Amino acid sequence: MPKTDTFQDLSLNPPPNNQDLWRWLYTELRAAILDGRLKSGTRLPSTRSLADQYQLSRGTVVTAFDQLQAEGYTSTEVGSGTYVTLGLPDRAMKAIPTRNTPNLPPSRAKVSKRTRAMLKDVHVLPTSHSIGKAFRSFEPAIDLFPTELWARVAARVLRHAPRSLYGHGSATGYQPLRRVIAEYIGSSRGVHCTAEQIVVTSGAQQALDLISRLLLDPGDQVWMEDPGYSGAWQTLRAAGARIVPVPIDSEGLNVTAARKLAPQAKIVYCTPANQFPLGITMSAERRVELLHWASTAGAWIIEDEYDAEYRYFGRPVAALQSLDQSGSVIYVGTFTKMLFNALRIGFLVLPPRLVEIFEAARTFVDRHPPTLDQAILAEFISEGHFHQHVRKMRQTYAERMSVLKESALAHLSDQLDVVDAAAGMRTIAWLKTQKTSISDKTAAQRATKLGLEVLPLSTFALKHTTKPALILGFAGCNPAELRRGISVLATALRTSTN
Ligand SMILES: Cc1ncc(COP(=O)(O)O)c(C=O)c1O
Repeated sequence: MPKTDTFQDLSLNPPPNNQDLWRWLYTELRAAILDGRLKSGTRLPSTRSLADQYQLSRGTVVTAFDQLQAEGYTSTEVGSGTYVTLGLPDRAMKAIPTRNTPNLPPSRAKVSKRTRAMLKDVHVLPTSHSIGKAFRSFEPAIDLFPTELWARVAARVLRHAPRSLYGHGSATGYQPLRRVIAEYIGSSRGVHCTAEQIVVTSGAQQALDLISRLLLDPGDQVWMEDPGYSGAWQTLRAAGARIVPVPIDSEGLNVTAARKLAPQAKIVYCTPANQFPLGITMSAERRVELLHWASTAGAWIIEDEYDAEYRYFGRPVAALQSLDQSGSVIYVGTFTKMLFNALRIGFLVLPPRLVEIFEAARTFVDRHPPTLDQAILAEFISEGHFHQHVRKMRQTYAERMSVLKESALAHLSDQLDVVDAAAGMRTIAWLKTQKTSISDKTAAQRATKLGLEVLPLSTFALKHTTKPALILGFAGCNPAELRRGISVLATALRTSTN
């Protein structure tokens, strides 16, 4: 291609005040080359004329030219000038997105069919820019977390950490943490396990994702509590599972109904200690029935105990895993709800025959969880701070639950029937439909408009319709925030009846 020197007006954006000027010129010229305004072989103006035109120093222009040349966009011929590199593939370069190429909306981005199916109904969780927002459901009391104490433990751990902790860690997690987890769930939940059966994960969600990816083939049936935890069915579905919604009754997951629907299911997902979202504790009879079915069908049971530590009345029931004789139960726990969400540390308790598989898979998933964070948590637990915090929170949450209940009784008793939660960090508030006659989604939308975070029960239902209800988190809000929240909710519901 013959060289040309048609340097037309490139309509460069004006130089900014707050950026290196050479970088501005370099970026503008590079963009002009990439989007074809400056074609291969075009001679650039001299450094002097560009400096005059844009009121720059010559040194600034020379630096920008040097950078373009170093990256191969231009070449210089002594005595002749600087040219856009011959042989730069014009069309290919134009394909690179630049400021002039509108970003495609995600719906038109080229992704796999599997990804599209996977992302159906998935909403990105909002970042917690504030704490204490009534009635956020998945947040513990961050206002009461002992941050000073955590910082002291962290500083000590980091100061004394041997160099080896900065290298590759164990695929199943930091051994001292796995040891204290095994001790803790043994004593508090009756879980039978050794440290070798524990795999530390990035929260309960990664535990669910690993199980789904490693144990399911596309098309496998999975029993799913209905209503149930959407984070679980999303990850199971992403692995290709055929979700079989199973109704919940006063004893928990209805095993008889499930056996009729899908006797050959490969996995069952359940929350026996505190059913999400209805708050039912699975009866002893159901537990035995479920374990018996799983051992005969050769199915896995995922037991998700995301908030089992918090029980306010009624006898705490030991984990399902404690009754498992056939190695069918995979237990999932998390510290995100017991300490704070940003920690992102959870764990799996695996039947021994699965340990090597999960360990090996870690190689291509994320190698291993971050070791130093695990070391801090291990120390926090072994020094007794964790147990003390959980004890305190149990009392605090029980108090917060009563504030919510009393406040709702005083201001909303004609509209809402708030369940006295026996366990957990949130409760169900049934809408008294003869008064409100609106769907829970509409009620929640109106509450959201007034600044609340309220989840409609129906978003967690798959097939079995639920009576309209709102899910109200109480753990993360102090009493004043809860009372204010109830008064705002009363306004929102009153608006909806008018
Ligand atoms: C039932 C249930 N399981 C698992 C999780 C996920 O926990 P994590 O934040 O540890 O991933 C949550 C809540 O966020 C939950 O409600």
